[in-house]
Amino acid sequence: MYLRELTLHNFRNYEKLSLSFGSNMIILVGRNAQGKTNILESIVYTCTGRSHRTSRDREVIRFGEEFAYIKAVVEKHIGKNTIEIGLDKNKKKMININGTAAKRLGQLMGNINGVLFSPEDLRLIKDGPAERRRFLDMEISQIRPQYFYKLQQYNKILSQRNNLLKEIQRRPSMKKSLPVWNEQLALSGAYIAEERSRFIKGLTKISKEIHDSITFGREELDIIYRPSIPLKGETDKTAENFLRILESGQELDIERGITLKGCHRDDIIFMINNRDTRVYGSQGQQRTVVLSLKLSEIDIMKNITGESPILLLDDVMSELDDHRQKMLLNSIGEVQTIITTTDINDIPIGDNGRCEIYRVDNGNVWRQL
Ligand SMILES: Nc1ncnc2c1ncn2[C@@H]1O[C@H](COP(=O)(O)OP(=O)(O)OP(=O)(O)O)[C@@H](O)[C@H]1O
Ligand SMILES: [Mg+2]
Repeated sequence: MYLRELTLHNFRNYEKLSLSFGSNMIILVGRNAQGKTNILESIVYTCTGRSHRTSRDREVIRFGEEFAYIKAVVEKHIGKNTIEIGLDKNKKKMININGTAAKRLGQLMGNINGVLFSPEDLRLIKDGPAERRRFLDMEISQIRPQYFYKLQQYNKILSQRNNLLKEIQRRPSMKKSLPVWNEQLALSGAYIAEERSRFIKGLTKISKEIHDSITFGREELDIIYRPSIPLKGETDKTAENFLRILESGQELDIERGITLKGCHRDDIIFMINNRDTRVYGSQGQQRTVVLSLKLSEIDIMKNITGESPILLLDDVMSELDDHRQKMLLNSIGEVQTIITTTDINDIPIGDNGRCEIYRVDNGNVWRQL
């Protein structure tokens, strides 16, 4: 799919911006703090309904304004998709898909697919498990909208169960309500865990190959899913297992006032040559793992949806060596790619006549001819 139009109004440092893209390779050049990442962030919004930088929508509304608006038009194999997002300081987020208001955020998933690669992605390796779960959730939601609903459901049930656990500490008679929540948590949790496991299997297969060619066969990548509850390979059986674990851990959960077992405690481990990259990997090795993952995501999305996602590269070129840059650019092929950089010389565009270069300066953008 190709992003053809992007319109912003009061989004971050853009009062008004209207861009039309005609090519596959778009380069945004500008000094620091001029609004390059802001543009990519607005595109991420149209893919997932949220920012990759903040969970607070109001932060992206232009200082002193009440309302922000984003519109993106993408061209697919068959037809066009128009997504509009409205963010109001005092109202619920508004999402329009081809002119019709979406009732739920989940409806947005899959309309525009994007893969973002930014220096902060190293956090995926370095940070705690929450960051890796967020990665899984964002990726799977884009290709399986149903997953997104189940995840929302799971989180809601989890917080209700946690509230009840605290309530039971004060009023032990409330314990009789717990079985209902145990059952519901086990059901949606089992679905999530099985989907995560399936996704990771696919991801591992593809990223192993990519990683192998980036490292000239010197490094073997493995991705290991560490679910909080053992999986049985079938949602029903995993749910039964999960339920048993919840029941047997119930007293401890009540004592602590939180649910100690479940998908909210899952983790994944990235191994290079059988060692945990998080612990033993060099900065460059960690970056290569992330690059392999990102390139795999493109393949996975293409396989599942039949459309290439839009690739968003935020300031990553200068951090990669020549070989990795080449690997990245080679695998782009027909994938529309939007690249930000502070220095155009960092992008090995060669004589790629099809690229469009834009200057970004303090919330103003113009095409460089
Ligand atoms: N809500 C907002 N309203 C207005 N301006 C904002 C808002 N949020 C951030 N900004 C401004 O946006 C600018 C940062 O934009 P952005 O992160 O896109 O920079 P960048 O060009 O990617 O820079 P770098 O090269 O350092 O990554 C800053 O000047 C910041 O003050
Ligand atoms: Mg930036």
